[in-house]
Amino acid sequence: MRILRSDRRTGWLSVIALSLACLASPGAAADPVLTVAIGGETRTFSRDALLARPDVSDVDIPADIAYGRPMRFRAVPLATLLAPFRAPADSVIETVALDGFAAHLPVDLVSNTDPNKAIGWLAIEPADAPWPAVPGKQSSAGPFYIVWTGAQARSVRSEQWPYQLAKLESQLSPLARWPQLGVDPALPATHEARAGATLFITQCLPCHMVDGAGASDVGPDLNAPMNPTAYMTRAGLHALIRDPKSVRSWPTQIMPGFAEDQMSDRDIDAVISYLAHIAGRKGK
Ligand code: HEC
Repeated sequence: MRILRSDRRTGWLSVIALSLACLASPGAAADPVLTVAIGGETRTFSRDALLARPDVSDVDIPADIAYGRPMRFRAVPLATLLAPFRAPADSVIETVALDGFAAHLPVDLVSNTDPNKAIGWLAIEPADAPWPAVPGKQSSAGPFYIVWTGAQARSVRSEQWPYQLAKLESQLSPLARWPQLGVDPALPATHEARAGATLFITQCLPCHMVDGAGASDVGPDLNAPMNPTAYMTRAGLHALIRDPKSVRSWPTQIMPGFAEDQMSDRDIDAVISYLAHIAGRKGK
């Protein structure tokens, strides 16, 4: 889905540091670390310490999102990993990836242990059994990747399977943190832009901001300076969200596109209505 972020934000220093690290130990990076900062408490978990936990097990994922095929991972349940932390009310868990991708997972989703729902796992890439590269990418989904099992695993949307993870952090829910993401309260309760806003926050906000609201700039801001509904037809925009390469294609293209089982035509229409709605409010 994504490539490693370039030097844009991290700067040349880290590129040099990375190159030196690679020179020092070809092929084997130092023990990678996951930072967890929830409710004012910060802890770091190294790969090797995570793999040594008693609750680590083999987890089979029949339809893995990053790899697009069945996968087996060494993984710890998110619920037990996060059990010592207390997430504040109205918070979500922001998952920050090495490339700047930033999803927001509901606390009740990551802490669920009921197999009739979806159960989250932190998959850990072992040093001695590296994962393959993500299709179309240079690197694997490691060092850390969130995957889902349980009866409702398939209801967890594609962008809620964040990979190349560096950090889990509690944050105010997106709508509380960035009220400008919300729709006009006067919109009818059934207006599809309302459903579109929710979908946008789950599926698009991990890479795109609107009017500067959001935690990631992997992709362009979708309302500033101009909203795509102002320069693309509805049909063209629909095609782009379904499969960007069907509209334009170039080698370094990043945006993943969304298959039917991740976003129905109705879902895509709702997101476009949301974009049109926030375009309409520009300049107010
Ligand atoms: C994994 C990151 C990622 C996700 C998720 C994502 N995008 Fe994108 N998007 C990008 C990037 C990066 C670009 C710039 C082109 C490229 O490299 O693919 C882009 C480009 C676009 C463009 C084209 C803008 C232009 O002027 O060419 C639109 C429209 C768009 N995205 C809408 C969406 C919508 C709507 C969603 C959610 C349904 C979404 N994107 C989800 C990363 C993402």
